[in-house]
Amino acid sequence: MKKRVFSGVQPSGNLHIGNYLGALKNWVEIQGEYESIWGIVDLHAVTVYQDPAELRSKVLETAALFMAVGLDPKQSAIMAQSSVPEHAELAWMLTCVTPVGWLERMTQYKAKALAQETVGDGLLQYPVLMAADILLYQAAIVPVGDDQAQHLELTRDIAQRFNSLYGETFVMPATHLPIVGSRVMGLDEPDKKMSKSTTGAGHAIALLDPIDQARKKIMRATTDSNPAVDFAALGAGVENLLNIFQAFSGWTSEKMRGHFHGMRYGDLKKQVAEMVIANLEPLQKRYREIMAEPGYVDSVLKEGAERVSPFAKSTVRLVKERMGLYTEA
Ligand code: AMP
Ligand code: TRP
Repeated sequence: MKKRVFSGVQPSGNLHIGNYLGALKNWVEIQGEYESIWGIVDLHAVTVYQDPAELRSKVLETAALFMAVGLDPKQSAIMAQSSVPEHAELAWMLTCVTPVGWLERMTQYKAKALAQETVGDGLLQYPVLMAADILLYQAAIVPVGDDQAQHLELTRDIAQRFNSLYGETFVMPATHLPIVGSRVMGLDEPDKKMSKSTTGAGHAIALLDPIDQARKKIMRATTDSNPAVDFAALGAGVENLLNIFQAFSGWTSEKMRGHFHGMRYGDLKKQVAEMVIANLEPLQKRYREIMAEPGYVDSVLKEGAERVSPFAKSTVRLVKERMGLYTEA
């Protein structure tokens, strides 16, 4: 039997090239190798307020983008987290074995909590729900960007604690990071991770950005006071541009060095822009075709949820039995 893989993206903000290079590109590469489940994690998105109408359309947009980058609904289950109620059900059971101290230590929680006037309980519970997403399907691997590594460690801690309290129940999921592109930085501030929630005009390249806008953002990216690429002394901005190029092209480090060493920043930016655009253009075309087909995205999500529901039900039943919760005979 194939091993299972689960990963998810929140349908908030606009998916950007960091999401693509850190997560989605990897998903496409492994979808045939594993029994694959890709979630649009809308229950995670509402841990901070989302405009309801916008959230509804973002769920569909995200599902269409999954397919536009190459996830194939015939090979993979593409589903919305809230349409499989066992995610929330298992999250409660896991909450009951999770010390609050573990959650308060999460760096993403601390950063998000600082940005809110009142901190919703959902923000603290966020990583428990993520653990539930993964453990519900007994996923063996979870492909994510670098920023999710701490949440994956916590997932293993929760699984271990559950297993030691109630007996072997959960598979330990491994973190699967891309070799290049696990952490794409902001184009305007190369010391900060490219993020959906940062609104600066030159910060992120959204997968659906108009092509000329994407080009402008790269041409204006922050570099440093040197004139040309020097691999012995790479500033953060130049290193980020090179990483983006390498992750899109799949070039080896030697090839990168041979081609770019000594190149003037203006020329480097032009080549990075061309590489990014060559990848965005076909993706945007597929996206428009997918969205133009009435009811298609909904039907994919419906089928995805139906496909994964039996696994989800069987895990929740097992967990209930282990914990002594009532299950019908
Ligand atoms: P999110 O945008 O938080 O829903 O993240 C979805 C996926 O994209 C996760 O696997 C993240 O680790 C990954 N990701 C988000 N931002 C970046 C980034 N700047 N560089 C690489 N991966 C990222
Ligand atoms: N927390 C992840 C993020 O923001 C999204 C996510 C939710 C996820 N559930 C998951 C990723 C399960 C991997 C597996 O990027």
